[in-house]
Amino acid sequence: MPSNRLEGKVAAITGAASGFGKGIATKFAQEGAKVIVADLSQEAGQQVASELDGIFIRTDVTKRSDWEALLALALKEYGQLDIVVNNAGASYSNKATEGVTEQEFDMVMNVNVKSIYFSTNVLVPYFLKENRPGSFIQIASTAGIRPRGGLAWYSASKGAAITATKALASEYGPKQIRFNAVSPVVGITGIYLDLCVYGPAWSAINAG
Ligand SMILES: NC(=O)c1ccc[n+]([C@@H]2O[C@H](COP(=O)([O-])OP(=O)(O)OC[C@H]3O[C@@H](n4cnc5c(N)ncnc54)[C@H](O)[C@@H]3O)[C@@H](O)[C@H]2O)c1
Repeated sequence: MPSNRLEGKVAAITGAASGFGKGIATKFAQEGAKVIVADLSQEAGQQVASELDGIFIRTDVTKRSDWEALLALALKEYGQLDIVVNNAGASYSNKATEGVTEQEFDMVMNVNVKSIYFSTNVLVPYFLKENRPGSFIQIASTAGIRPRGGLAWYSASKGAAITATKALASEYGPKQIRFNAVSPVVGITGIYLDLCVYGPAWSAINAG
């Protein structure tokens, strides 16, 4: 039952064109937040934003300039930013680790880890300058806590997200900027269906 817990807040959610991000944006809007849907996927992102009376901005979370544009948009349209959900994520198909290409390695590290670096590097100075409380929420994964074979570098990227979040929480908590990470187990979303993050073993269990 919505209770307007986010009334007066502005939340930017990356990867909100689909899956968990869309769910998070929907819940935040129900709770009264103004939402900014930041995703690579233009058509789906615009659709979600219009359903939630929010704003879409085409964002590649691996690009600093896109984070700068996101902050500028939040300030122009809403005059503030309060919550950042680093939800956009990427993986490669579950496979023997010696077969992971450099391109796949760079993709998981850039989308899942460097995005967090850019989000803090660009947005923390805004919160500090305005002396404004802020909240960063990273969508990590149980793979970052209890990794299994076949997804070594995806798991490592989520482990890095969790460790960075703990370090950032301890560094910026005293300045009223909170950092939290959420580690889902599994959801049947695009990343799961396209890339089979949990591999054949999980699919077999799921199929009963
Ligand atoms: N689905 C699962 O089983 C599962 C489990 C644990 C953690 N997660 C994590 O949850 C998060 C959300 O994934 P999902 O399951 O909803 O998958 P999804 O594929 O439905 O959503 C991912 C979204 O991220 C966007 N995206 C990808 N690269 C981007 C980039 N460079 N810049 C901006 N947007 C980009 C995609 O366009 C897509 O809309 C990810 O971080 C994923 O690692 C998923």
